[in-house]
Amino acid sequence: GKGGYDHYMLKEIESQPESLSNTIRGRIDPDEPAVHLEDFPRGCFEDVTEVHFVACGTSYHAALYGARLLEEANVSVRASRASEFSGRIPNPDGTLVVPVTQSGETADTLGALRAAREAGARTLAVTNVIGSTIAREADEVLYIRAGPEIGVAATKTFSSQVVTLVLLAERLREEVEGAIAREDRREFLEALSVLPDQIEEVIRTSRAEALSEKYDDRGAYFFIGHALQHPVALEGALKFKEITYEHAEGFASGELKHGPLALVTPGTPIFALFDGKHDEKTHTNAKEAQARGAEIVAVTSSERTASFADDVLAIPDTHPDLVGLLANVQLQFVSYYTARLLGRPIDKPRNLAKSVTVE
Ligand code: F6R
Repeated sequence: GKGGYDHYMLKEIESQPESLSNTIRGRIDPDEPAVHLEDFPRGCFEDVTEVHFVACGTSYHAALYGARLLEEANVSVRASRASEFSGRIPNPDGTLVVPVTQSGETADTLGALRAAREAGARTLAVTNVIGSTIAREADEVLYIRAGPEIGVAATKTFSSQVVTLVLLAERLREEVEGAIAREDRREFLEALSVLPDQIEEVIRTSRAEALSEKYDDRGAYFFIGHALQHPVALEGALKFKEITYEHAEGFASGELKHGPLALVTPGTPIFALFDGKHDEKTHTNAKEAQARGAEIVAVTSSERTASFADDVLAIPDTHPDLVGLLANVQLQFVSYYTARLLGRPIDKPRNLAKSVTVE
């Protein structure tokens, strides 16, 4: 049941400290420092030369996060929307195809998996559901261990997918030829191990409910971010449109001025995601929009970064590669409280199904 919550979505957002603890349990050792994925012993990724993610919707955003991490580690990587996957794999012997799917039943993702197998690539599914079709058909499976998710909008499974892909990326960068290992591995793994507690802190302190009341009824909502914050901006917008039925779009910060800025009018809310490392582009472009009347909500751990903004959603300090997970919880709350204010059927948005088994 909902355990005292009005909606499964809120229950699932607030269960992320627990679901993420399950995702990382036994898998990280900051002292060594090492990542242990029980089914993937040392050496098992030695033949991998490139990685290709295939996924849909929220899972595609998690895949983009994983892809960006690998890109920064100098690994050849792509992420395709499963429905757009061409089935072409130029180098099948060296390519690891990774379908990312909460349900393990999404028809588009299953189609991409089958095409990848047909092309002769090795396949490793990242999923939540044991025994699902994609778990059975992939060569190997890495489970995200988020527990059952009832709300149609994916929340805790997104964060567990991202963290699982963070772990997979750590393992891959040890073995893929030419990949760059982290210099700050211990600090990174320590930051990962306290992430569930920091999410608890965001849950305890979030001002998203009051903020949603202020920004109710604006007609259009934008979300911007650069680098690892870009997929989080896309995810923030998807969740928002899905459950509030309000128009929302996510953009790469630097793209705003290449077209979307024309949509900005006085009072347009823009949620700007900062990571403390790549903030210049987001800052410049958010200020540009602010000069055109946009109201900027900065999601950041830095008071200095936030000083220009109209509002702030504060998050605790963490490693720059993990900031998106904390920012995302704030955005989940913004979607939830806005939808609640608008009286939407939060757990079952119109026209949508939890698992999409048609192409
Ligand atoms: C959005 C959402 C969908 C799913 C997508 C893929 O909240 O839940 O966008 O992420 O339909 O589903 P899975 O992950 O089951 O393949």
